[in-house]
Amino acid sequence: MVDEARAAGTLGGKHLVLGVTGSIAAYKAVGVLRALREQGATVSVLMTRGATKFITPLTFEVLSGHRVVTDLFESPETMPHLTMAEGADAVLVAPATAHFLAKAALGLADDVLSTMLLNVRCPVIVAPAMDGEMWTHPTVTQHVDALRARGVVVLDPEVGPLASGRIAQGRFPAEGTILDAVHAALLPQRDWRGQRVLVSAGPTQEPLDPVRFLSNRSSGKMGYAIAEAVCARGGDVVLVTGPSALTPPSGVTTVHVNTASEMADALSRHFSSCTVLIMAAAVADFRPRVPASGKLKKQGKVAIEFALEATPDILAMLSARRTSQVVVGFAAETEQLLSHAKDKLRAKGLDLIVANDVTHAGGGFGSDDNAATILSATGEQRAFGLMPKRRLADEILNAVRDLCLVVPRGQSLVE
Ligand code: PMT
Repeated sequence: MVDEARAAGTLGGKHLVLGVTGSIAAYKAVGVLRALREQGATVSVLMTRGATKFITPLTFEVLSGHRVVTDLFESPETMPHLTMAEGADAVLVAPATAHFLAKAALGLADDVLSTMLLNVRCPVIVAPAMDGEMWTHPTVTQHVDALRARGVVVLDPEVGPLASGRIAQGRFPAEGTILDAVHAALLPQRDWRGQRVLVSAGPTQEPLDPVRFLSNRSSGKMGYAIAEAVCARGGDVVLVTGPSALTPPSGVTTVHVNTASEMADALSRHFSSCTVLIMAAAVADFRPRVPASGKLKKQGKVAIEFALEATPDILAMLSARRTSQVVVGFAAETEQLLSHAKDKLRAKGLDLIVANDVTHAGGGFGSDDNAATILSATGEQRAFGLMPKRRLADEILNAVRDLCLVVPRGQSLVE
């Protein structure tokens, strides 16, 4: 399916930034550039100083139809590290040297390419090429892992004859592999078509009296991002949401609730017809046993006591009731992230759990970004550094797809 899409010139309207670094494979980037252009993409090229030792900027300039930038300091007015990033749908670094991987992993910014990378929030795809001993060096492995954890797509180099004459893993990935990765990043996947997904989001509010409640800091952003991602990938969504200031994504059936028991009722109603439940809501664990029927008066009181009772554990209840549904929970933790998450995964009988450290600066409740580790009941683990919740949503869907959904033989996951 990807091959057909590739042939059809489906990158029309997409703009890519191609970064070329100093590897002997730099000349192969010319072929990649031509293929991207043939498919309708516009491409701007950045070259490192090392890359210009192997191939001239003029070659890329002629074939891209755009000026090639090689110098961060070419002129103070143009600020290429900012202007090149503007409007980019994806960045492709091909070939990428070990030196480049190290700089990108560490966030070093000493040339136009590495500085520009700190300015982009679009998908980044990296196609390494180097000698085999370098690729398997623990430092390189560490940097590749760090980049992947951040959501960067780092392709595996191929095994074959290298410039050194040795046969090892280090060859520039095949052009088709690189184009498939660009397609997967830029073209809508419909791999969730046929799935009916029940998503919960936001906080619940447990009344103390008619005007006051117990609640938490959940904004709904994580759950809404998941609902949006499922829709974008062709699935049907019922979103059960606690109070949130967000507008539900279009195409989603939304049920608004306030309390944990209203959320339990709404989710129970839709559970039997769903194929996947993703429970991102921050359900209040306790509620006042007897909320006051009228507004509580202060009347000189300096303290007031409430008896609290546990709310229903909706996730455990639905998981126990499942027929064939895949059940995914979240774990919001402030300490011992993985061991507490594993306990919840087991105790609630889940297929997957998304463990997020809600003390992580810039992640967790209310923020636009999140860092998480996805754990499966069968022992797989995928860790993701801080990234936009919408991108994490896609990673969660990838994990559910790869680890839990059965795909009929012969049917492609990517169209
Ligand atoms: O909404 P945002 O601002 O974007 O923030 C996102 C988030 C931090 C709220 C989200 O990523 C998250 O972690 N949601 C789960 C919060 C939570 O309640 O975690 P928990 O570890 O207390 O609960 C474990 C699981 O059981 C959760 O899937 C929860 O939805 C579920 N649960 C909890 C209590 C309860 N009574 N019923 C439940 O179903």
